[in-house]
Amino acid sequence: MKTIKFLFGFFGCLLMFFTLTACNNNENNSSNNNESNKQDGEITTPNDSDTLVIFFSRAGENYMVGDYGNGYAGYVDVGNTEVVVNYILDEYHFDSFKINPVVPYPDSYSDMLNVAREEQQTNARPEFIGEIENFENYQNFIIGYPIWNNTFPNIIISIFDKYDFSHKKLYPFSTHGGSGLGNTLSKIKELEPNATIVDSFSIPGANVRSDSGKSQVLNWIDSLNLEKR
Ligand SMILES: Cc1cc2nc3c(=O)[nH]c(=O)nc-3n(C[C@H](O)[C@H](O)[C@H](O)COP(=O)(O)O)c2cc1C
Repeated sequence: MKTIKFLFGFFGCLLMFFTLTACNNNENNSSNNNESNKQDGEITTPNDSDTLVIFFSRAGENYMVGDYGNGYAGYVDVGNTEVVVNYILDEYHFDSFKINPVVPYPDSYSDMLNVAREEQQTNARPEFIGEIENFENYQNFIIGYPIWNNTFPNIIISIFDKYDFSHKKLYPFSTHGGSGLGNTLSKIKELEPNATIVDSFSIPGANVRSDSGKSQVLNWIDSLNLEKR
C-alpha cells in the first residue's frame, strides 16, 4: 500500500513538473512574439530610440535674432532652441516632442515680455497641445528651452508637473541672451528630485546660427555618448 502511495506521489509530482515547465515555455514564447512584432514594425515610437528630445521654442520677434540691424529685436521663422534641436536631430535619430502652447504666444517681443512676466507672477501652468506617447519607454531626456527672466518658461513646468521623471537621465540645455542656464538646474532638481541631471549645456541665441555655434552643439551632444542608431 505504501509503495502504491509512493508511486502516485512520485508520478503526480512528475506530471506537475512537466505542466509547469510547459506553462513557462508558453510565457517565454509569447514574450518572444512581442519582440518579433516590434521588429516587424509594430513599434510605437518613430525611431525606437530610448532618448527623447523635449523642447519649447518660440518663432517670431525676439532679442538679437534674424536681421536686427541697429535695433535689438529681429524676426525669425524658427526659434533659437529649435535650431539647436534640428542640429541634434540631423545627427541623431532621437524621438522628439515640441511643446506647443494651447494658447499661442504673441509674435511681438514686447508683448511676449509682458505675457512671460504675467505667467511667472501668477505661477501659471500653460497647457500644451498633445501628449508624450509611451513616456515610460524613454530613459534619456534632452530638454531644451529659452531663458525667460533668468528661468525657463512656465510651460516647461507644465511638462514636469504632468510627467514623472524619477530615475530618468536628464540633459537640459538652454539658449539665452546672456543668462546661461539661469536658475533652471536648481529648479529641475526641486521639481524632479528623483531624476539625475547627467550633463547640461547653454548657448547664446545670437550664436546658434553660426558654424561655431553648430560645432558647440554637436561637440556637446557627442560628448554624452548616447546611442546614434
Ligand atoms: C520673454 C523673454 C524673456 C527673456 N529673458 C531673458 C533672460 O532673462 N536672460 C537671457 O539671457 N535671455 C532672455 N531672453 C532671450 C531668450 O532667452 C533667447 O533669445 C532665446 O534664445 C530664445 O529662444 P527661442 O528662440 O527658442 O524661443 C528672453 C526672451 C524673451 C522672449
